[in-house]
Amino acid sequence: MPDWDAKYAAAPEGLFGNAPSQYVRQIMARWDFKARSGLCLADGDGRNSRWLAQQGLAMAAVDLSGVAVENGQLLDSKAGVYVERTVADLVTWQPSKQNFDAVFLMYLQAPAQTRLAALRSGWQAVSPGGWFVVEGFAKAQAAGEAGPGNPDLLYGLEELQRALAGATVIEALSGRVRLDEGERHQGLAEVVRFAARKA
Ligand SMILES: C[S@@+](CC[C@H](N)C(=O)[O-])C[C@H]1O[C@@H](n2cnc3c(N)ncnc32)[C@H](O)[C@@H]1O
Repeated sequence: MPDWDAKYAAAPEGLFGNAPSQYVRQIMARWDFKARSGLCLADGDGRNSRWLAQQGLAMAAVDLSGVAVENGQLLDSKAGVYVERTVADLVTWQPSKQNFDAVFLMYLQAPAQTRLAALRSGWQAVSPGGWFVVEGFAKAQAAGEAGPGNPDLLYGLEELQRALAGATVIEALSGRVRLDEGERHQGLAEVVRFAARKA
């Protein structure tokens, strides 16, 4: 597993840049997405939660790396927004609130047990009618340049569909897209994108 603290310590201005994921922007632009509160899991130094806070959502975020969370708090202050940031391991973390209008899990690269725990606890935190949005490298990206190069840390679409079997699926896609996610993630990559709502 990567040493995330070391990676974030070397990039205090944002490990994956300061712009949000393209998929977060796409979801925000939907006519039927009207979230007023959100939670970002494995949020790193917070490019996604910070941007969502700038759009007016009341945001909370969780990440394993204490350095990422500290960097995120400084970047939030510079941006003039507040995000309630928590350092926690998603394997054991449980949401203290279960009423977020939208929960985002973007680019968690972790073993299957961690991915499943994040999907389960993230889903619990979604309010009725709320959204759960997941994006990450697909297993096929193990052969590509971006990402950890280990298929065991990457997603298969079927695992999302299985873990979130009770969800109303809005999009469940796996394929090749041209990424523009900071300096580290540019160019074609195999990703999964999954958006679902709770009844
Ligand atoms: C590739 S980064 C993505 C960060 C952020 N979501 C983004 O898109 O900029 C993966 C993040 O997952 C976090 N992470 C890895 N394992 C975790 C775990 N068990 N619990 C919480 N966060 C974890 C890392 O600390 C890292 O910040």
